Amino acid sequence: MNAVDLIVKKRDGERLTREEIGYMVMGYTDGDIPDYQMSAFLMAIFFSGMDDVETADLTEVMRDSGDVMDLSGIKGIKVDKHSTGGVGDKTTLIVAPLAASCGVPVAKMSGRGLGFTGGTVDKLESIPGFRVSMERDEFIRQVNDTGIAVIGQTGHIAPADKKIYALRDVTGTVENLSLITSSIMSKKLAAGSDAILLDVKCGSGAFMKTEEDAVRLAEMMVRIGNMRGRKTVAAITDMEQPLGRAVGNALEVKEAIDVLKGRGPDDITELSLKLAGMMIYLGGMAEDEAEGGRKAAQALQSGRGLAKFAEFVEMQGGDPAVTEDPGILPRSDVVMELKAERDGYVSAIDAMRIGLASQHTGAGRERKDEAIDLSAGLYLYRKTGDPVKKGDVICSLYGNNVKKVKKALEEAGNAVKISEEKKEPGKLIKRIIT
Ligand code: URA
Repeated sequence: MNAVDLIVKKRDGERLTREEIGYMVMGYTDGDIPDYQMSAFLMAIFFSGMDDVETADLTEVMRDSGDVMDLSGIKGIKVDKHSTGGVGDKTTLIVAPLAASCGVPVAKMSGRGLGFTGGTVDKLESIPGFRVSMERDEFIRQVNDTGIAVIGQTGHIAPADKKIYALRDVTGTVENLSLITSSIMSKKLAAGSDAILLDVKCGSGAFMKTEEDAVRLAEMMVRIGNMRGRKTVAAITDMEQPLGRAVGNALEVKEAIDVLKGRGPDDITELSLKLAGMMIYLGGMAEDEAEGGRKAAQALQSGRGLAKFAEFVEMQGGDPAVTEDPGILPRSDVVMELKAERDGYVSAIDAMRIGLASQHTGAGRERKDEAIDLSAGLYLYRKTGDPVKKGDVICSLYGNNVKKVKKALEEAGNAVKISEEKKEPGKLIKRIIT
């Protein structure tokens, strides 16, 4: 076997065997195959595509390039949740304790934010004292004792994907269904859960801009997950405008707590209950998604979800008083306001631009490992479809650097459109793929 033959084979539209895929992926990961050959190989996949068997093989080869978590020490059906990334998406902070309070063990590995989308780990770290790293035994013990633990993803999970993704990023080979599917699913399979819930976002603030593309990606990920013995379902959800009103780490934690208290914004509450219901069903604690949804709603109304969140925070070293006093979260010194320039209706709040604005405040990182300002971000007082009068505050921006917050204010101004006609926002939950 040699790299040139395999590049030519894929370039000419032929199918690759698992051995051939493994030869390329592991050769590259180990440093035996250079960047230029892997780049050509990825471009050949980009144009010639891969069928489901090749995609499943690629997924498994990448999964096996590093550690595969053994969660068999945890009782019950473990369900993982993955969002393809959005702006203001703090659903994991809500869904995980709701599902755990209904008896579904949540053993979750989460990532940090990069670019304009946030990461669960950064959000949790805004709670004073919260730790996201722990030994495997402690992780398993905590899930068995309290039903929930969240840790940061280590570099030992699917290292082949890490290296290949960095190359795709600079060779124009990111937007291919098989490559995206294998990248996401290799990490999910390595994380060791029994079932997988995918939240595939579509719209301006998402990776997939159209519903059709999001459906195609979701269908492929669901097929590959099920082919590999993990019950996998996906929700296609809107990311045309940000989810909820808060964007930024501590601000999102506060909003998640509000949702768990039953007084959060409608959209994030609706989506969280839907996803929690699906998770409860996948975890075998409900006959179907509808019953799962009812159980999630009861957990929210009774306060059991909030109590589970506080218990989880305390177990991981964080101050559980945060649920009673969000004032202990980091606060910003600089606050600026975006005001409506005329009367009308908010007709668009471009999620990507709001994500960029939030990044400019200091809440997001441009480069991996960059420090972020956990207190920074923005809060939307108006959403798409709302009426506004000239001078009304549409959004507050928070940070600790006047220059940065000013830049964010400018970007937020570009994100918000006001028109004379009322425009309803797009449907939040567009489709469920099983
Ligand atoms: N997220 C990933 O982890 N991989 C991709 O290829 C795209 C999004």
